[in-house]
Amino acid sequence: MTIDQQNQVTLIEHPLIQHKLTLMRRVETSTTKFRNLVKEVSLLLAYEVTRDLPLKYEEIQTPLAVMNAPVLAPDKKLVLVSIMRAGQGILDGMLELMPSARVGHVGLYRDPKTLIPIEYYFKVPHDVEQRDMIVVDPMLATGNSAVAAVERLKSTNPLSMKFVCLLAAPEGIEHFCEAHPDVPLYTAAIDDHLDEHGYIIPGLGDAGDRLFGTK
Ligand code: URA
Repeated sequence: MTIDQQNQVTLIEHPLIQHKLTLMRRVETSTTKFRNLVKEVSLLLAYEVTRDLPLKYEEIQTPLAVMNAPVLAPDKKLVLVSIMRAGQGILDGMLELMPSARVGHVGLYRDPKTLIPIEYYFKVPHDVEQRDMIVVDPMLATGNSAVAAVERLKSTNPLSMKFVCLLAAPEGIEHFCEAHPDVPLYTAAIDDHLDEHGYIIPGLGDAGDRLFGTK
């Protein structure tokens, strides 16, 4: 990675995340287990990605004393955007931690021959301009879908944007950082390379299929 990319990319190396990611990668891990693991890892990723959320202080009464205690600033509003369909797993996990966040969906599929993303669905909350956006997609492979989705989402003018994935290929990071140097990228691992079909190696296979049991 270049210095600029190092500044843009956060590799989240927490041991719990790394352990769970290894379980997800294992070919023998069942759909049920995989789904639970995505949820658990997403909760942990959300913790890191929301590290900069502002706090305000309000006076509360504990059983023993009055104190000035921190709470999340109420005017800080979030929108989580899932890139369908595999983004759903991360979305479900993050929503457990941030239940009042609004949700958007971007539907893209990769043309199997060209690997170019085609948009088939797009819906975000009407007040997206007043929200900070977290875009989620488990696999940053070629980066084509992520780059296209972020491009489309930028046209809705959210206050800020971050992109979160579980696994990234160096090729995907390169592509994403070149296209969107202003969007911080969070990943739990950077793998070795892409194969000729655009799959991340060693990776974990097709995240959508593993999440939904479609293969
Ligand atoms: N999408 C996936 O689900 N897996 C990959 O390895 C690449 C793209």
